[in-house]
Order: sequence, then C-alpha cells, then structure tokens
Amino acid sequence: KKLIIINGPNLNLLGKREPAIYGSLTFTEFLETIKDKYPKVKIDYFQSNIEGELIDKLQEVGFTYDGIVLNAAAYTHTSIGIGDAVKAIQTPVVEVHISNTFNREEFRHTSYISPNAKGVILGFGLQSYELAIQSFL
Ligand code: DQA
Repeated sequence: KKLIIINGPNLNLLGKREPAIYGSLTFTEFLETIKDKYPKVKIDYFQSNIEGELIDKLQEVGFTYDGIVLNAAAYTHTSIGIGDAVKAIQTPVVEVHISNTFNREEFRHTSYISPNAKGVILGFGLQSYELAIQSFL
C-alpha cells in the first residue's frame, strides 16, 4: 500500500507548538515510530504552510496513491479550494485532527474537508494519524 500523510499550516511546529493541546513529540519523531511499526506500508509525508501547495500535492498523489491522511489544520475551517481538491481526486482521504476540534472554539466546528472525506478521526492526539493509517490496511 502506498499512503501519504499531508499536514497543513503550523504543523511543522509540532513538539513546540501549544504542547498542552498538541503534545511534545515532533512529527518527525512520531513518523519514524509509525514507519517502523508498519514496515510493509509506504508512508510518504508532506507538510506545507501554503494553501496552494497543499492543493498541488493532493492533485499530484490523488490518482495513484491508495490513501491520503490529511490534517489541513486551520485550512480545514476556511478552504473551499482544499475541499474541492479532496472532491476532485480519486484517492480516498481520511481527515484527521490531533485535538478534538468540537470541544474547542466555535470556528473549529466546521470543516470543508469532511463532506468529501472517507471518514474523520479526531481528538486522539498523534494516535489519530495511526488510526487513519490502519483504516487503509
Ligand atoms: C488541528 C485543529 C485545527 O483547528 C487547528 O487549526 C490546527 C490543528 C488539529 O490537528 O487538532 O492547526 O487540525
């Protein structure tokens, strides 16, 4: 299986960004443990703070990969463009969030990704990503 994790804005700061909410592990550290745990799965990783780069990546992988794990971060709540890209591609997308966005501010309660996602996993910390990967296996 060929999967990719796509992370949106500010997720490059994982480990030092609001650790009470997002944890103190860096994503690179986390990714290494996940790759070790699922050696037969090809797990690519892409992060960008730029909306258009996230759309470019979704288009690039969205017709050949078996699954996309997408945490569009703040763009989840604002980006019709990323929502449309998820709809336009063929590869199923599982939307993930580290935090439970529903017990946070009201503006985090809407998602332009969810209507076109295969499923949504949120609130389990970095484990949300692992659960999403498992959903494709
Ligand atoms: C997030 C939740 C978003 O509301 C927020 O803007 C993020 C991270 C999460 O993984 O919990 O940057 O997507």
